[in-house]
Amino acid sequence: MSNGFGSTSNARESRQWIYMSVPEGKLTTDIFKLQTIEIPAQPGPGEVLVRNRYLNIMPGNRAYMRMGLIAAGQPMWSLGVGEVLASNDPGFVPGDVVEGLLPWQDVAVVPAQTLGKREGSYPVEHYTGLLGQTGYTAYFGLLHAGQPRAGETVLVSAAAGGVGSLAVQLAKLSGCRIVGIAGGADKCAWLEREVGADATIDYKAGNLAEQLRQTCPDGVDLFFDNVGGPILEAALDAMKVGGRIILCGNASQYDSDQEMLGPKGVPLTLILKNLTMRGFPYKAYEQQFAEAERNLWAWVQDGRIKPFYHVVEGLEQGPTGLVGILSGANRGMAMVRV
Ligand SMILES: NC(=O)c1ccc[n+]([C@@H]2O[C@H](COP(=O)([O-])OP(=O)(O)OC[C@H]3O[C@@H](n4cnc5c(N)ncnc54)[C@H](OP(=O)(O)O)[C@@H]3O)[C@@H](O)[C@H]2O)c1
Repeated sequence: MSNGFGSTSNARESRQWIYMSVPEGKLTTDIFKLQTIEIPAQPGPGEVLVRNRYLNIMPGNRAYMRMGLIAAGQPMWSLGVGEVLASNDPGFVPGDVVEGLLPWQDVAVVPAQTLGKREGSYPVEHYTGLLGQTGYTAYFGLLHAGQPRAGETVLVSAAAGGVGSLAVQLAKLSGCRIVGIAGGADKCAWLEREVGADATIDYKAGNLAEQLRQTCPDGVDLFFDNVGGPILEAALDAMKVGGRIILCGNASQYDSDQEMLGPKGVPLTLILKNLTMRGFPYKAYEQQFAEAERNLWAWVQDGRIKPFYHVVEGLEQGPTGLVGILSGANRGMAMVRV
């Protein structure tokens, strides 16, 4: 009987998710197909055999489908972390922990040039979460791009999500008053109770403008926006004169085949209120990742911040996990444990 890792001495079996066709409308699990493939036991020149450990599930995966970066008919992939089983590249040896764009498989042969080695002895899930793309996005987006100052009112959308739940805590650490936006009363209660938001807005309860007026009576100094769409549009009116808007993501617009729309109020509200609006790709801060790793870990150790993980168990649950986070099933950083 196969254990999933080897049928013969020359090859291993691996499950593999194929992304079959471009979704019409919202993503559904039936456009993915799980198959079993054979993986060579030894990688070719310049290749590495990786045992996948955690795969990110992020709304960005859906955006990449829209953009054709994840191609229909090909294996599904995302950022992830794994362990090197065998290497045919001088840069890696068995046992190395590696991060990179990994196909949704148990094991995979991956070009060495697409992998980065992770040093340190952190629990491996952190490389996908706190000390990976999600954590670094919150860190550089909120602290470097956003420059929060003590006493300011900071508004965070998708505040209960991976990036958002860290951004809330980092703004709190900076001495700000935090208003988090999330979908549903339970999530909002969790944000106040567990994550440390001072006030919350349940955007699914409607009347966003009125909720913004009540929670931010003096206006918003800094808006860290993960979702775009109607929430960004409503927030423009709630900004203080001279306020800053950090565009982190556009999650409200990813899960659709319709055109992605920008908010009304650009440019006129920006002009009239002297607002600054800027985006950032977290990779722009690559040279400073070590700083983020050091600080984020230190703050976790002294209890000032806490990573919240939404772990989906098993590769077979990958598509269900992705569909789930697009509709807000997660609290904290979402990942599949392979
Ligand atoms: N700039 C960068 O370099 C960079 C890097 C990584 C990620 N990002 C962006 O960061 C954002 C957050 O990513 P993440 O991985 O941490 O995901 P996440 O926030 O954990 O998950 C997405 C969340 O979006 C919310 N959402 C979905 N549809 C919505 C809608 N129509 N209106 C309002 N909220 C909606 C859901 O929460 P509710 O239950 O509250 O609706 C869901 O939990 C994404 O936009 C992503 O693209 C940017």
